[in-house]
Amino acid sequence: MGSVMSNPKKAFQITQNTLSPDKVVQLSANKFSVFYGKNEAVKSVSMDILKGAVTAIIGPSGCGKSTFLRAINRMNDLIPSVSVSGELSLEGTEIYSTNTDIMALRQRVGMVFQKPNPFPKSIFDNVAYGPRLQGISERKRLSEIVEKSLGRAALWDEVKNRLQENALGLSGGQQQRLCMARALAIDPQILLMDEPTSALDPRSSARIEDLIDELRGKITIIIVTHNMQQAARVSDFTTFFYEGLLVEYGTTRNIFTMPSDKKTEDYITGRFG
Ligand SMILES: Nc1ncnc2c1ncn2[C@@H]1O[C@H](COP(=O)(O)OP(=O)(O)OP(=O)(O)O)[C@@H](O)[C@H]1O
Ligand SMILES: [Mg+2]
Repeated sequence: MGSVMSNPKKAFQITQNTLSPDKVVQLSANKFSVFYGKNEAVKSVSMDILKGAVTAIIGPSGCGKSTFLRAINRMNDLIPSVSVSGELSLEGTEIYSTNTDIMALRQRVGMVFQKPNPFPKSIFDNVAYGPRLQGISERKRLSEIVEKSLGRAALWDEVKNRLQENALGLSGGQQQRLCMARALAIDPQILLMDEPTSALDPRSSARIEDLIDELRGKITIIIVTHNMQQAARVSDFTTFFYEGLLVEYGTTRNIFTMPSDKKTEDYITGRFG
């Protein structure tokens, strides 16, 4: 092991969170590949993601992180050239089975993107969007969900007096918390986050990290990040992707303090990437 790693605790502040002993696999990939035409962007990845855990996906640009993430709620289906092989199952049910109800899947697997993308609608209507799609129309019930979801996203106090205002009038950090509230409003089992703080200032990023910490144990979170400090701070498990391959997967503590692969070590110590 190289000298840079000799005092890793100095380099990374690592999450102290531990998982409950009753570990349940929520998402399981088995030799799972994703192709754009003939280009295999995710190559035969096998990994089990545990329920309630925060799992970080790290790796250099173009290594397939977003492709893998988007495969989980079948966002890639929107791209015509995409095909998959292998298995990807959610609590034992194959996600790419022909009888998967994609709407139902996306209600179980919510997503927050890099750039906050609120709808050009009121704050209230943004959060009520998913519940309305689920058929909830009673105003009182919707108001309860909106308040609870904005509360969970730590935004309620800032917006409670302006729920009817357009969401595009919020700051970037507020918009991203609104997007989290919108995702949480449908009670997803999994929340996918693709570089959710890379467009935010440090204070807004810290608030999103706090939210992730509060959701730990309640929702399974898979977060793609280029920020090694962030991965170390918020995740229980880390997986390192390189050129479409899963190089290493383990507890965040192990990946950041004693990676077994030289490439992982080089990446997290900033030698490339
Ligand atoms: N819509 C697409 N059509 C064709 N190829 C794509 C498409 N999206 C991604 N790719 C290719 O798939 C590979 C993986 O891309 P992906 O976006 O998953 O990488 P990433 O790890 O998320 O990178 P970054 O850190 O830059 O976001 C790259 O070679 C990319 O060019
Ligand atoms: Mg990406």
